[in-house]
Formats: sequence, C-alpha cells, structure tokens
Amino acid sequence: MTTNRSLIAQPVDVDTDTLRKAIQDEYKKVAEEPGKGFHFHTGRHLTKIVGYKDEWLKGVSESSIESFAGTGNPFAMGTLTHGEKVVDVGSGGGIDSFVAARMVGADGKVIGIDMTPAMLEKARVAAVKSNIHNVEFIEAYMEEIPVPDSWADVVISNGVLNLTPDKQKVFGEMFRLLRPGGRLQIADIMVSRGVPEGAKRKIDLWTG
Ligand SMILES: C[S@@+](CC[C@H](N)C(=O)[O-])C[C@H]1O[C@@H](n2cnc3c(N)ncnc32)[C@H](O)[C@@H]1O
Repeated sequence: MTTNRSLIAQPVDVDTDTLRKAIQDEYKKVAEEPGKGFHFHTGRHLTKIVGYKDEWLKGVSESSIESFAGTGNPFAMGTLTHGEKVVDVGSGGGIDSFVAARMVGADGKVIGIDMTPAMLEKARVAAVKSNIHNVEFIEAYMEEIPVPDSWADVVISNGVLNLTPDKQKVFGEMFRLLRPGGRLQIADIMVSRGVPEGAKRKIDLWTG
C-alpha cells in the first residue's frame, strides 16, 4: 500500500510552550468570563447550533454549559452505550464528559483530560453540582494522555485537535488507549486547502 504523505499532517515548527500558554490564557477566559464574547460561538447558544438534544443536557450544571466551546457534536455520530469506558480529549468545562457519563450510566466511566487548570476546576465543580459521579477530570496534555493502553471503548473530542501542532502524535495516543475495535467520535475543524507555513507559526492565528 502506498501512503500519500501530503495527506498526513506533519508536525508544525512552532514553540510548543508559547503556544500552550497562549491557548491556556484564551480558555481560562472561556472558563472564568464565559459571557465576555469570543470570536467563536460558546455556551447554550452553541449547543443548539451543533444539535445537542435538550434531554442530553437535562440536569447538567449551567456553569459547564456556559463554557462550552466545541466545534461540533461528537454524539452526532452515534450515542454511547451503557457500560462503555470513554476518554474525552480536551474536556474543557466538561459538557461532553457529562453527556457521555449519562449515556454510559453508572457501570460506565468517563475520563476527561485537559491542560487548562481553570477549565478542570470548572468541570470538577460542575460534576458535583450535576450529581454525576462516573467522571474524573485529569490535568494532562493530549500529546501524552495518562490512560493505560486499550482502556477505552470510545474516545471523544470536540474542538481540540486543531489546537495541537503534532496531530499524528495525538492520533497515536488515541489509538493506543482505544481497545481493539474501539471507536473515535471526533468533532473538529478541517481545511480543504493547505495552510501556508508562515501562518502556521503565528501563535495568535492558533488561538484567534
Ligand atoms: C475549544 S475548547 C473545547 C473544550 C471542550 N471540548 C468543549 O467542547 O467545550 C479546547 C480545549 O482544549 C484544551 N487544550 C488545548 N490544547 C491542549 C493540549 N495540548 N492538551 C490538553 N488540552 C488542550 C483547552 O484547554 C480547552 O479546554
């Protein structure tokens, strides 16, 4: 089989620490000042745009919903099954982790990972407010996910892969922690034309 290398995202030559700091600064604002207004849609208004059903959000704390900043709907590909184990990569304020936790029920489990402390704090408080106990939020980078090999039945992610300069590495992590036959349900941004190298190195284009 031949591989078309132009279709495989190569790592971008950008300073990772600077990029992560800029992303954390942006998403700290989404966590702490959700009504501020951003260049992207957020909150309950966004849940309606991307087709979240009201029944999925019933009982989920408004404090989580207000910081929703996804780019789509990972559950549009299918709902989850009772008892499944789920990893939410870039869990933000926790909304998708909570929807997943409800779908998989008490016999299932959800691990949300995120690198922004303000988002993790928001998600942990919202879990208590929402009375959801089968979810855990862990501080981690999506490039190094602290979940054992083959642990998950499903990996979900919403609006996060576009924020890593090394997409192959993150897909590698997702495949590592999925069990054989497991599945990915990812909502993200795709471009149909190449992004110029100079633009890829501009940190403010990643966050804004
Ligand atoms: C657009 S928000 C989406 C959050 C959530 N999935 C949602 O739909 O509301 C992106 C999230 O990804 C997290 N993030 C960005 N880069 C990350 C990285 N390298 N590792 C872990 N989390 C990251 C940010 O902290 C932020 O919470």
